[in-house]
Amino acid sequence: MNKTYPPVYYSDYLQLNKLLSCQVPKSNEYLRPAHDEMLFIIVHQVYELWFKQIIHELDSINKMFRDEIIDERNIGTAVARIQRITEIQKLLIEQLHVLETMTPLDFLEFRDYLIPASGFQSFQFRLIENKIGLKSENRIQYNNFDYYNSLSEEHRKIILESMENISLFELVEKWLERTPFLSFAGYNFWDVYKHTVDSMIDDEKQIILTNPALSEKKRDVQLKQNEMNKENFDALFDDEKYAELKKHGKVRLSQKATLAALFINLYRDEPILHLPFMLLSVLTDMDELFTNWRYRHMLMVHRMIGSKVGTGGSSGHTYLMQTIEKHRVFIDLFNLSTYLIPRSSLPALPGELEKQLGFNYSHK
Ligand code: HEM
Repeated sequence: MNKTYPPVYYSDYLQLNKLLSCQVPKSNEYLRPAHDEMLFIIVHQVYELWFKQIIHELDSINKMFRDEIIDERNIGTAVARIQRITEIQKLLIEQLHVLETMTPLDFLEFRDYLIPASGFQSFQFRLIENKIGLKSENRIQYNNFDYYNSLSEEHRKIILESMENISLFELVEKWLERTPFLSFAGYNFWDVYKHTVDSMIDDEKQIILTNPALSEKKRDVQLKQNEMNKENFDALFDDEKYAELKKHGKVRLSQKATLAALFINLYRDEPILHLPFMLLSVLTDMDELFTNWRYRHMLMVHRMIGSKVGTGGSSGHTYLMQTIEKHRVFIDLFNLSTYLIPRSSLPALPGELEKQLGFNYSHK
């Protein structure tokens, strides 16, 4: 039996009366109307709406990953939802072009009315950062005070709470740590793999030593990097060395999770590992797109206000520039590529394990 529902009017459903009454330029209030302030308000509001959607997706993914055993179907859903976030992020970057149709002089018409308001006080942006896993100790501090102190009491409470909750980074780490297939029942997979990577790093060293195009100084820098790659790779298999790297903030993901992520990357062609690989891939995309947004926003700010301080009181584009590298979250997933080897050099997996990684109805 078909249930009937009362008719809905478009404008009521979307509460347009409310939504379209929320654009109130300060310049009108001060009786010096600035044409571009409307654009400035709308662009920020659209951002906040998209932030709300991103939080909605992140919360649902967080819920799915809280279980000890995650239903494989949920991984597919998580991948789809993170992909939705990345599509939104692309829009967020594109939108800056619309705002840039306002020139720096046009902005000056109303900028002073906004002090000390700033995107720095976007509590939804801070929520997103915390929900993804940006840790307080990794944040750039400005004026020696914590970012949440510039928020209202109501928003500060929400942010402080979000800092206590488990983040996407931590959930993914736990999920990776639980990955089966990492114990090889007597098979020395990591020994064979380590040997192959060691020779790859040695080959790279030879290339640096014999490259005639390098000055002595550049050669030294590259040799140091090569040495560091070797040390970091060795540390992957040495509990103490890894703990030391972690202590100094050189890595964030646990040793076990890193090995699992490496294995997933290497054997992603195996059917069972394909979805986990997709998940790591979209997380990397998301991190990259946030970094892109930070970079684009910083450039726009430089163009708009030069080297003036921000309305929020920071050093403006200099502060924003520092956050670009420092506020990356899934940086370990990017660094994994240092230890990837060509498919043709991958150690063969024991037959039983390969069978487990395939589909049950595999012809093998
Ligand atoms: C004329 C356009 C804009 C200018 C001149 C500008 C300027 C700035 C400046 C100088 C900061 C550093 C904090 C401060 O001292 O105020 C900042 C931070 C920020 N802005 Fe903008 N902004 C603009 C547009 C936007 C838009 C459209 C958004 C979208 C929501 C946004 C979001 C943010 C966020 C989230 C931060 C904090 C970044 C962080 O701490 O990592 N801004 N902005």
